[in-house]
Amino acid sequence: MRLILVAVLLGVALATRVSYEGYKVLRFNPTGDQLKLLKHFSNSPGFDFWNEPRRYGGNLDIMVSPAQLPFFLTYLKQNSISFTVLNENVQTLIDAEIKHQEATPKAPRAISFDRYYRHSEINAYLEELAEKFRDLVTLESIGRSYEDRDMVVIKISSGGNGTRPVVLVDGGIHAREWIAPAMTLYIINQLVENSTANGALTDAVDWYILPVLNPDGYEFSHTNDRLWRKSRSRPASGSCYGADQNRNWDFHWMENGASNQRCSEIYAGSEPFSEVENRNLRDFAEAHKNRTKLYLTFHSYGNYLLYPWGYTSDLPSDWRTLQDLAERVDRAQVAAGGSPFDIGTSTNVLYAAAGGSDDYMKGVKGVALSYTAELTDTAYGFELPASYILPTVRQFFEGVRVFGTYVKDNF
Ligand code: ARG
Ligand code: ZN
Repeated sequence: MRLILVAVLLGVALATRVSYEGYKVLRFNPTGDQLKLLKHFSNSPGFDFWNEPRRYGGNLDIMVSPAQLPFFLTYLKQNSISFTVLNENVQTLIDAEIKHQEATPKAPRAISFDRYYRHSEINAYLEELAEKFRDLVTLESIGRSYEDRDMVVIKISSGGNGTRPVVLVDGGIHAREWIAPAMTLYIINQLVENSTANGALTDAVDWYILPVLNPDGYEFSHTNDRLWRKSRSRPASGSCYGADQNRNWDFHWMENGASNQRCSEIYAGSEPFSEVENRNLRDFAEAHKNRTKLYLTFHSYGNYLLYPWGYTSDLPSDWRTLQDLAERVDRAQVAAGGSPFDIGTSTNVLYAAAGGSDDYMKGVKGVALSYTAELTDTAYGFELPASYILPTVRQFFEGVRVFGTYVKDNF
């Protein structure tokens, strides 16, 4: 009986997984005019803009459904827009990933970065560290997600009684960007479990790290739809769930690059801070804002290191400091084997998008140094195979070291 139930549930779970069979990712290097034409498709069903730099000469990656493909290819031909095929069939990679996830042993065991961890495994790892490293680690629940998952911040502090400067880090605000939570976990792992090499980073600075800022979406991207981006909050009416948590912060909300359409991938929410996950982090940040000197939020992909503003093309008055530090971070990760990042304000390097967490932390909470890191620039996009996790996070950790050292030396 129980077996049958399990089989039925399993069947339902498999049957409800969204299929990306026949979906292709096309990469463009458009001229200004071509970009204008292509942008018309950005909110159409069957089109998903994976990466959308505004700077000409940058790559524009669009995933297209098999239903839209014939028409779209004709359109491209008619307008003489050339492209390369980045991915012939997105589902092929997803299938390989599911297999790998299932074949690789799960936690509990020593953390190894050879697979992507589920939210419960991530929280279990934090618990384990809190038990083992009692004088360095404490956990704080900052609240529950919409679907009632526990959002846990790990506080790494070697002393100072709450007087030291704070580095605040999060990942996973966008569900499908799996390398982002992995990056935060690696930072935690290195700061806590490899103190021989990294003790200097924690001897005068406190690190507060939230591995997954959108746990419901993150889990949904594991179980149902690999390319889910938004939160999972239910609308008052209609069938489109969730909001883009990086359009939902209360700073120039909805002014630019955000949508009031519930079904849009960049839906800003019904009002600023409609999303409880963002409210949870907002309240935590408020409690520590005077000590917080650096905010770092991880996304993927494209190798961008961005600083405010994202709501306007105007530069913040201290942009030179932000730019210089970003360049030093980049040099360190390049020296560790990474490929170079594009550096600048979100608006000028990528596109204008108001309501982002980076803008909010600087603009409202007064965190001087605020950055969005878009990790990796492979042809895999969001579908980064697990074998890339370790090299990616190792390389960028050398950049994180520069960030931490800067805070230690300057505050
Ligand atoms: N790819 C990120 C997003 O679309 C970039 C965010 C940059 N920050 C900003 N405030 N626009 O959310
Ligand atoms: Zn993102």
